[in-house]
Amino acid sequence: MKITVIGAGNVGATCANVIAHNGLAKQVVLLDIVEGMAEGKSLDMWQSSPVNMFDTRIIGVTNDYEATKGSGVIVITSGIPRKPGMSRDDLIGTNARIIKEVTGKAIEQSPDAIILMVANPLDVMCYCAYLTAKKDSNKVFGMAGILDTARFRAFLADALDTSPRDIQTLLLGGHGDTMVPLPRYTSVSGIPVTELLDKETIDKIVDRTRMGGGEIVKLMGTSAWYAPGAAVEQMVESIVFDQKRILPVCTYLNGEYGIKDIYLGVPVKLGKNGIEEIIEVDLNEDEKALLNKSAEAVKSVMKVLDDMNLF
Ligand code: NAI
Ligand code: 2OP
Repeated sequence: MKITVIGAGNVGATCANVIAHNGLAKQVVLLDIVEGMAEGKSLDMWQSSPVNMFDTRIIGVTNDYEATKGSGVIVITSGIPRKPGMSRDDLIGTNARIIKEVTGKAIEQSPDAIILMVANPLDVMCYCAYLTAKKDSNKVFGMAGILDTARFRAFLADALDTSPRDIQTLLLGGHGDTMVPLPRYTSVSGIPVTELLDKETIDKIVDRTRMGGGEIVKLMGTSAWYAPGAAVEQMVESIVFDQKRILPVCTYLNGEYGIKDIYLGVPVKLGKNGIEEIIEVDLNEDEKALLNKSAEAVKSVMKVLDDMNLF
């Protein structure tokens, strides 16, 4: 399979590198508008292959969409990242135009591809790609929940002084400060986390998770890329190997969870056909209220997209 990654910045280059390193494709095409950047980074990655023992070819191109022809998965990372003081939603004016342009050009070359959105504001950029690509929504979705749950799991591992691998959790909602980590669906090797940590500690970790992206932006002046790249890799792996993993994915909702016509993070089964099932879990009244609040936050950003009259 050929996999295209659009945007060869911090996140895009990391995605291409881990996808190649893990042998998920025969060829990875990395595309950017900045002359020579994707070519240079791809050459550097390819030169790591004899040491890292992979044989996926990585091809870098400047705006050459023909090179992406016949891709099975298109990962879209092109778009500006946050600077300190910005929310993800502040990026919409610039990124919506970029996403419309690159999605249109990429899907023209690969009409059957699955589109995996990464650019922010994620939930609304997924909708932008969905409107542009005119494909079934099970083939257009976004990465955020794996990153957000990974942050939750890493913080819990610190608090418990245990391996993050043993921590399972669930998180719903938009990729913003209103996201909904769910301690009630969190366990450590089957043991409910509520039996291992007190409420105050869990609440603090939930808050830190919600602000996890901003914490990194404050430290570095731009947003994260290692954990986002790893999260994208996990989704691509589930698609190309048809693993049917249950993962939190930014998904078009058509009445599930009582929410209609927006993209939002929920657990899904991810396989070769993209989203093969949306899983609805039982929520208590507090959790439902938090999810609805998150949906309202996404709807307010959708309104900004509507007002741009791009579609
Ligand atoms: P970056 O600035 O390092 O890279 C973005 C790249 O996109 C640049 O190389 C730029 O030249 C390229 N680009 C811009 N317009 C383009 C176009 N029309 N065609 C092709 N390439 C174009 O930014 P970074 O850190 O890689 O972040 C990328 C996006 O991903 C941001 O919007 C960021 O907020 C988002 N992000 C989302 C995450 C998530 O969990 N969904 C996690 C981390 C970042
Ligand atoms: C993150 O959460 C910026 O969405 C990006 O790190």
